[in-house]
Amino acid sequence: MASQVGAMSAPKDKAEPARLVGGEHGEDDALEVHLRPKRLAEFVGQRQTRENLSVFIAAAQSRAEALDHVLFSGPPGLGKTTLAQIVARELGVNFRSTSGPVLVRAGDLAAILTNLEPRDVLFIDEIHRLNPAVEEILYPAMEDFELDLVIGEGPSARSVKITLAPFTLIGATTRSGLITTPLRDRFGIPLRLDFYEPDELQTIVERAARIFGLDLNAQGAREIAARARGTPRIAGRLLKRVRDFASVAGHSGIDAAIADAALTRLEVDSRGLDAFDRRYLRLIALSFGGGPVGIETIAAALGEARDAIEEIVEPFLLQQGFVQRTPRGRMVSGAAFAHLGLEPPARDAGQPGLFRQGDDGQI
Ligand SMILES: Nc1ncnc2c1ncn2[C@@H]1O[C@H](COP(=O)(O)OP(=O)(O)O)[C@@H](O)[C@H]1O
Ligand SMILES: [Mg+2]
Repeated sequence: MASQVGAMSAPKDKAEPARLVGGEHGEDDALEVHLRPKRLAEFVGQRQTRENLSVFIAAAQSRAEALDHVLFSGPPGLGKTTLAQIVARELGVNFRSTSGPVLVRAGDLAAILTNLEPRDVLFIDEIHRLNPAVEEILYPAMEDFELDLVIGEGPSARSVKITLAPFTLIGATTRSGLITTPLRDRFGIPLRLDFYEPDELQTIVERAARIFGLDLNAQGAREIAARARGTPRIAGRLLKRVRDFASVAGHSGIDAAIADAALTRLEVDSRGLDAFDRRYLRLIALSFGGGPVGIETIAAALGEARDAIEEIVEPFLLQQGFVQRTPRGRMVSGAAFAHLGLEPPARDAGQPGLFRQGDDGQI
C-alpha cells in the first residue's frame, strides 16, 4: 500500500510518521476510521464534488442501475477513500477495496470481479499503479461488464468470456497524470479533490475533537486548521499531537496559545510548512538562486525520491504560490523568500530565473 519510497515513505508499522505534515498514511490510520464521516451530508468541504455525487447517486438509484465509474484524484489525505466508502453506503451496496500495487496478476482482479454482486462498489486505490496486464482486463470489465480470460497455454489455450454483475469502479489516485488515457476515458465521473479552506478544516478539527472528547475552543481549532496544509488527515494528526502536548503539560483544555506552542515545537510554522518544506524551499532559494532547477536535481540534493516530492511536498507549495513549475524547472516565488525571511535575488525583468549581470559582465 505504501506509495512512496525513501525517507518519506509511510512507515506503517512504526510509531511515528516520517513527516508530521505529510498527507500520506501514517501510524494513526487505525484511529482515522473513527474520524471518517459516514454519510455525504456529514462530509465537510469539496462542495461541488459532493453536490455532483449526490445527483449522480440519486439518478442511478432512481433507474436502479449501477452508478457510473468514478475517479477521485488529488493529493493524499483529502478524503478520496472516505468518499468512496460514503458512495457505497449511500447506494446501499457492498464496498470492496483493493489497490493498484496489490493486484499483481490479471487473475487477482478477475477473482475480485467475479465475486461482485450487482451494483457493488469496487474501490481501487492508487489506480495509477496498476500492472498493464491487470489494466487490460479492466477495460472490458468497466465497459461491458465482461471478463475476457485466456485459459491454458500454447495450442490448447482458449479464451472465455465471463459476464459480470454490473458494478461501479471507484478509482483513487494521487497522480492523475500517470493514468493511461484508455483507463481515464472509461470513468464517466472524474472528480478532483482540492485542498480545504481553513473554515472547512476548522469544522473538521472541531468534529474530531468532539469524537476524541477533547475540550478545544474555536481559536485552538482555528490555529490547528490554519496549519494543516489544507489536508484533513494532517488536521487530525496535528490535533492528536497537540492533545499529547496539552495533556503532558497538564492543560485540561486547548486554546490557540497551547496549540501554537505545540505546533511550533513540532516545527510546523504559521503557514503549515514543516521542516522538510522549508528545506525544499531554502534549497531552491539559496543553492539555486531561486531557480529554475530541475526536479531530479532537487530530489538528489534533498536525498528524497522524486515521486514523494512531486506527490506530497509540492502540491501544497504550488497551491500556496510558494513554488512554480516552469518548463525549465522549479522556481520559488517572492512570497517564499519573504516567508523564509530571505532577500530575493535581483532578476532581469521578464526573464525569470536569469540573474542580472554584475558590473563586470559576469553572471
Ligand atoms: N471532508 C472531510 N471531513 C472530515 N474528515 C475528513 C474529510 N476528508 C477526509 N477526512 C479525514 O481525513 C483522513 C484521510 O482521509 P482519506 O479519505 O483516507 O484520504 P485519501 O484517501 O484522499 O488519502 C480520514 O481520517 C478522514 O476521516
Ligand atoms: Mg486513501
